[in-house]
Amino acid sequence: MSDLKSRLTELRERLTELREQINFHNYRYNVLDDPVISDAEYDRLLNELKQIESEHPEWITPDSPTQRVGGQVSERFAKVPHPAPILSLANAFNGDAVREWFTRISKLIPAARPVQFTVEPKIDGLSVVLHYRDGMFVQGATRGDGNIGEDITPNLRTVRAVPLKIPVASSRSGSRARNVSVAVPSTFVVRGEAFIEMRAFEEMNAQIEKDGGKTFANPRNAAAGFLRQLDSRITSKRPISLLCYQIVAADAVGADGDTPRSQFALLEYLNTIGFPTTTIAKRFDALDDAITYAESWIDRRDTLPFEADGMVIKIDDLDLQQALGIVGKDPRGAIALKFPAREATTPLLDVGVNIGRTGIMAPYAILEPVNVGGVTIERATLHNYDDIARKDIRIHDRVVVKRSGDVIPYVVGPVIAARTGREKVIEPPRKCPYCDTPIIRREGEVAIYCPNRDCPGRLDRAVQFFVSKGALDIDGLGEKIAAQLIEAGLIEDVADIYSITRDQLLELDGFAEKKADKLLASIEASKRRPLDRLIAALGIPHVGSVAAEALAAHFGSIDKFRQADEDALTQIEGIGPTIAAAIVEWTQRKDHIDLVARLKKAGLNTQAEKAAADRSGGPLTGKTFVITGTLSKPRDEIAELIKSAGGKVTDSVSKKTDYVVAGEAAGSKLTKAQQLGIIILDEAALQRLLSN
Ligand code: IVH
Repeated sequence: MSDLKSRLTELRERLTELREQINFHNYRYNVLDDPVISDAEYDRLLNELKQIESEHPEWITPDSPTQRVGGQVSERFAKVPHPAPILSLANAFNGDAVREWFTRISKLIPAARPVQFTVEPKIDGLSVVLHYRDGMFVQGATRGDGNIGEDITPNLRTVRAVPLKIPVASSRSGSRARNVSVAVPSTFVVRGEAFIEMRAFEEMNAQIEKDGGKTFANPRNAAAGFLRQLDSRITSKRPISLLCYQIVAADAVGADGDTPRSQFALLEYLNTIGFPTTTIAKRFDALDDAITYAESWIDRRDTLPFEADGMVIKIDDLDLQQALGIVGKDPRGAIALKFPAREATTPLLDVGVNIGRTGIMAPYAILEPVNVGGVTIERATLHNYDDIARKDIRIHDRVVVKRSGDVIPYVVGPVIAARTGREKVIEPPRKCPYCDTPIIRREGEVAIYCPNRDCPGRLDRAVQFFVSKGALDIDGLGEKIAAQLIEAGLIEDVADIYSITRDQLLELDGFAEKKADKLLASIEASKRRPLDRLIAALGIPHVGSVAAEALAAHFGSIDKFRQADEDALTQIEGIGPTIAAAIVEWTQRKDHIDLVARLKKAGLNTQAEKAAADRSGGPLTGKTFVITGTLSKPRDEIAELIKSAGGKVTDSVSKKTDYVVAGEAAGSKLTKAQQLGIIILDEAALQRLLSN
């Protein structure tokens, strides 16, 4: 037997052995409740299995213990009757529908009664019902059919946001709630929404993809999958968050245990006793103001750390809400103002391929035009060919397309049920469509590349990037003109932009004197851009505007930057080993050394502004800031204020961060800062620091 063959046989045997062992330990743990190995040992086995399966995804079978997430396990959960029906919500798709709702229910409200409204985000997650007895978390359930839920207590116990102990009238110590002056009744049932934050979801999917596993379609499915499976150790490793908004039941135990009768006050009360609640709820006296606030989140929905599918408008007075009763499964006293849908289905007509600056070939979908949340979409990214194969997307499939905020629309997957048999499997190209060079694939990467550094497709993208707003900002050198100049042989690399002459331009189609002069003036002006823009324009992988700024400020000149080694680079705040390695790889290449020399010779500014140095001595000198959440001004304006006072602004929170400026709906960065004990400032506090 060849070496390779015997190694494969060994691996397969190990795989079978691991699966048997893991299944046995799952049984000991879940069924007998009597584990014979530690969690760490169990994790080691599971990781080893995952590792083998990631190297050999063809060996993954649906019954592998790694695949035990989500799915048809509901009959295996114990049933939990809810103490009161777990209601749903009626939907409204615009402000007028909300006004109609209120007109309808107004007839049931005594005329003299003033009505207030509380507006909250409608989190796209999984409803959970948490039971407390004498302040201890005793049971947690899914919504189920609204009357009976599934018992997922062990899973919910692993969710850190679920308080395991809350203060009761008789025992107030030991709970997570600080400065508690309230207590809860001895029977206390709270409802909330469990979910996975967008960023955590993306990180998790990226990791799953790297491990060769099956990614989740959306955070909701992922959260539901993790909470509704049988191994709570799997749940415990997942980043599940929670926001609570309702008290489902509480026995009355006198004044001390009374719960608030206002929705707005209730959120605060829940928070005080240890439950996470939304930070963006607001109360209004007028319905129109409530609607305006709810609608104001349509364009800002992506600033929320979680996926929200609308805002909920609730009658604030809970007694009135209750008196209004229910229609079917919906309470009359609340309504969801849904955000426009961002998903739609449409036929996939064909697949095109874009080439990136680095030669990466990116497939995109050519779609039958479809309206998604008010925008017509004809193209959507297909990420990469592995993703296409994994999702089994075929030409002529009806596909789900999704648009989230500023992100390029993407194809979520095919609608398998709509297949007709006419669908065609999508094959990656073998040759670059721009230069015919055979495509390559680097080991361990999903992307495919055109390896030809002189590929006209790559040059096109490099020029577009170089002249873009965040880089050297050359007005008048858009996509078409850039392509025209490349086509005419005037640009072979970005430094050639600076040797184009007026005469050369005048020879081109569509270039009269005025247009030529204008373009030359823009090119001239681009020579005076600050050093960080030049560094960003080089298109070094991982070096965006924030890293470029840090590099420019640190080195002060392109020459010093160009000569820096990895050690020197990693000393800089915000530059980790990955970025440092990418920089060195870039700067060491002979063609890049030549390019930088030619840009310098062309007269581009290669020195950092003196002004930056002069700023030191300001009140924030030596301090590093991270800005997160929604603030009253755009983030770059706030960053400018900090920098003008001598401070530094970086993207990610680490031990090196001194302050985090957090606005509304701040997410994982704020959480991380809290964990690291970093000082958190609101805008007013920042203002005070600035005026020191
Ligand atoms: S209130 C009487 N508030 O949306 C209480 N529901 O589509 C009725 N949801 O089943 C629900 N965020 O799972 C309420 N802030 C929020 C919510 C919320 C998400 C979910 C909940 C409900 C579904 C209705």
